[in-house]
Amino acid sequence: MIHVRPLHPLFVGEVAGIDTTGDLSAENVRAIRAAADRYAVLVFRNQRLTDEQQLTFSHSFGELEETRGTGISKPGEQRLHPAFADVSNLDKNNRLLARDNRRRLYSLGNMLWHSDSSFKPIPAKYSILSGRVVAPHGGDTEFADMRAAYDALDEATKTECKGLICEHSLIYSREMLGFDDLTEDERATMRPVRQSLVRTHPGSGRKSLYLASHIGTIIGWPVPEARAFIRDLTEHATQPQFVYAHKWQPFDLVMWDNRCTMHRVRRYDNSQARDMRRTTVAGTEMTAEQITSFAATESTDALR
Ligand code: OGA
Ligand code: MN
Repeated sequence: MIHVRPLHPLFVGEVAGIDTTGDLSAENVRAIRAAADRYAVLVFRNQRLTDEQQLTFSHSFGELEETRGTGISKPGEQRLHPAFADVSNLDKNNRLLARDNRRRLYSLGNMLWHSDSSFKPIPAKYSILSGRVVAPHGGDTEFADMRAAYDALDEATKTECKGLICEHSLIYSREMLGFDDLTEDERATMRPVRQSLVRTHPGSGRKSLYLASHIGTIIGWPVPEARAFIRDLTEHATQPQFVYAHKWQPFDLVMWDNRCTMHRVRRYDNSQARDMRRTTVAGTEMTAEQITSFAATESTDALR
């Protein structure tokens, strides 16, 4: 039996009564899903997982995304199994990345509010992040409840958002930080995909704003107007009452639902190791129709 204690007035539950390193019963899988539908972010304390155990736990909730083919890491450079997103500040020999290291600069994009894999035609469902070595100062991960943010919009804005489709790409979020030295090959893997601005969660039936720094425009809108509107909605959605800041303890495991939350990492001292390893449960459907040529050639690839 699991027990969930709320950590925030709107969302986020701390789950007790589960050992994520062991076999999960079907009943516990159901209970965790139900808790995720209600709380959107779940915190499991003191989970000393191996990579293998993290993969097994994550796989109980669906197929896993692979990071291969997204971002800028090249095959031989990776520290972790390809089903992991390495969000540490370490290289494959577990040494700190230099300040001007390209992968480090690229990953600073995680400091911008986002939802994982919104740049894929079928975006991610859950992300599961294990804090193996946590930053001694800073490095909190903040989460925003996009259901509550949607509910709090005035009626006119809800009407304006209805039916809108945004374009998401890693190029846009990196551009925001001035990271633009992407190769043509990298850009080719980052072609924009379409996502609905408003989603309805299948588990809770609640609507949410689907925002991310990966958004570059709204289909049919002039770009500056689209970006100004998205910025405005993002400011609304990330007001303090909608945000929970997670202060990491070693071996915390945090699981969040990307369909109804955004998150970002806060600043930390890069002279100290921060070893964070993420697995990602793939989504099962698109939120909007893709332009035909893209959907036909890329959508299955991006899932692997
Ligand atoms: C992620 C991410 C935040 C962090 O793992 O998807 O954005 O705290 N990480 O490292
Ligand atoms: Mn992320």
